[in-house]
Order: sequence, then C-alpha cells, then structure tokens
Amino acid sequence: MIAEKIKLENFRNYEKEQVLFSPDVNIIYGDNGMGKTNLIEALYFFSYARSFRAKTKEFLKHGADNAKIELDFVSKGRRQNADIIFTKDKKKKIRVNEINISKNSELLGNFICVLFTPDELNLVKDGPDKRRKFLDTSIVSLRPSYFSALAAYSSCLKQKNALLKNGNFSLLDIWDERLSEYGAVISCMRESYVKNLAEKAKVAQKDISGGKEELEVIYSHNYKIGNNKRETKDYILEKITEARKREIEYRMCLAGPHRDDLLFKINSYNSKSYASQGQQRSIVLSMKIAQMEIIKEQEDEYPQLLLDDVMSELDLSRRDYLTEKIKGKQVIISCTDLSNISLKNDANLIYIKDGKVCI
Ligand SMILES: Nc1ncnc2c1ncn2[C@@H]1O[C@H](COP(=O)(O)OP(=O)(O)O)[C@@H](O)[C@H]1O
Ligand SMILES: [Mg+2]
Repeated sequence: MIAEKIKLENFRNYEKEQVLFSPDVNIIYGDNGMGKTNLIEALYFFSYARSFRAKTKEFLKHGADNAKIELDFVSKGRRQNADIIFTKDKKKKIRVNEINISKNSELLGNFICVLFTPDELNLVKDGPDKRRKFLDTSIVSLRPSYFSALAAYSSCLKQKNALLKNGNFSLLDIWDERLSEYGAVISCMRESYVKNLAEKAKVAQKDISGGKEELEVIYSHNYKIGNNKRETKDYILEKITEARKREIEYRMCLAGPHRDDLLFKINSYNSKSYASQGQQRSIVLSMKIAQMEIIKEQEDEYPQLLLDDVMSELDLSRRDYLTEKIKGKQVIISCTDLSNISLKNDANLIYIKDGKVCI
C-alpha cells in the first residue's frame, strides 16, 4: 500500500495543503502542536473510516462548514483515489474511485495502514479495553464482515444494558440470542487471528531479545469456543444464560466477547506482573510487526506504516530493530527531533509549521 498524495481542506489546523509522499521513508517533523498527528490522523481515516484519537473529534477547522481529505494511493497493483467530506452535522461522505459508498465498512481494505503510537506502548499493562481495541482494529482492516459483526454486537449490548438498567427483563432472551449470534462471529475471527498473531509475534520477540524470550500470546475468553460458529454461539449463550442472575443484580451485561482479553507470557510468566518495562515494550513491538506480517500474508502487500512520535520513546536497540523491519515498506514517521531517526538521510523530509507544509 503506497500513499502518493494527500490533500487536506479545512481538516483540523490545515486550511488547504497537499503532501506528496515517497514510496519509502517519509519523515514529518516540526514542533509540538503544529499538525503532525493531524496529518497522520487523515491518512488513518482512509484505512479505518474513523480516528484513533478518542479525545477530540473536531475534524473541521474552527469556523469551517465542512472539511475534505483526499488520498491518491496505489493498492492491489493499481492507482486509486478516495475522498472523505466531513460536514458540520458530524456526518461523513465517502467516495472510493469516484463512487459514493454508503457504509463505512466499504472503505475498509482498500488502503491499509498500521499505526504505532506511544499510547500503545502500555498495551500489556493497561486495561483489557486497549487490548480488545488492538485486536479489533487489526482484524477490521482485513475483514469488513468483522466490522459489521462488531457494530451489531455493540448495538445489541447497548440495548440490553438499557433493559437491565430500566429493570425491563422480559425481552432479555431475545437480546441474549442476538448477542450470542454476533458474538460467535467475533469470537471465531478473534481466535483464528490470534493464532496467527501469536506465531508471528513469537518469532519477532525471539529476534528482538536475541533468542532469550519465548513469547506466548493467548486469547482469553470466559466461554468455550467450539469447532464452528454454531457451536460457539451455543457456548456463548450458555454463559450468558448462566450469568443472568448476576446481570440482573449488577444491571449490566457480564458475559460475552466484550469481556475478552489478550494475555502475554514471556518464558511462561505472565507479562503483566513479571515482565520489565523494556520487555513489555518489546511485546508491543512484536505485536505490531506481527500485525504487519499478517497483512502482507493475506493481502500480498505490506501496509503503510504510521509511526506517530514513537521512535523517541524506544531505546536504541528496539529502535534499530524497528528501523530494520520497516525497510522496503512505505513508512510515515513523525517526530519533533530528527536526531533519533537514523533513516533521515534517505528520507523524504516534510517540515510542518502551523498547519502548513514548508519546503
Ligand atoms: N478542529 C480544529 N481546528 C483548528 N485547529 C485544530 C483543530 N483540531 C486540532 N487543532 C490544532 O491542531 C494542533 C495539534 O496538532 P497535532 O497534529 O496534534 O500536533 P503535533 O504536531 O504535536 O502532532 C493544535 O494546535 C490544535 O489546536
Ligand atoms: Mg503529535
């Protein structure tokens, strides 16, 4: 996946700018608050139809009525184009190769990027929601049907939670049925994805640690997974039914894939309690490399890599490992200080100041 050119109009702090990318290493540099992450966010939108920043969703430049981002990219051997218009009423209009698409899921898979931010460096010790998000984001880029199942599941969850809160228990059976149906789709995809992820992350961790660390990535769920979706659906329903009494007591949904987690072990020890900070960071790095390799395996091309301010957070040996791994792929690195980046001599340097690309 290669991004060739992005145009930004009234997006965040950009008024009207365009950026040309090289197919290899691109470095966006500039002081804090200048618009580096905004540019990375715009690229990310073309892969996931949403932002990775939870805090602010103000995509329109202050005072503007709408915003537009447009990407020229090469994927599956051909030159393509997509654009997204953001309107004041928080809606999005998306076109791929000039054709309007009605569902976000139809954008997915056209242009795939993998993002790595400092926020993810605590993946091992943060709460399970971060790890589920990692898993979901990774699978969504490859399987639009997973996106639909997730959306359906979370909508059912919301409605069932509302029933539990209001003390309206007569319809719970119907929602349990639906939850287990969509839940089985999610769970089976997570299971097969983690199997592949675990194999690849194990190899990466071995490399990073000079053969010393044996990483296990384990999909953790509080219900059984069967040989197929049908069986898994029955197992999930069984668990939800079993939890009914407690769900009514606590007034919330307690069983199902929304409680899933990922568990990491190094040399058989649980990493959350035993791994050093450095080892935990290696695990995250291994996971990212594995995510990238799975995309290459399934799509027959590498994703674009977005490294937002993450190089300066890694120590020298991990940075060198990552630098080695990104060779031959398109990568967009953002940083405030070029001195941490060993690839800068061969890179396309993009200097950003106050939402402007300066050459
Ligand atoms: N909707 C918006 N309109 C105008 N400016 C915005 C908007 N959203 C964010 N910004 C500005 O963008 C800047 C942050 O950009 P960011 O890309 O996060 O910086 P950095 O270069 O540090 O990564 C801030 O100055 C913020 O005020
Ligand atoms: Mg930033």
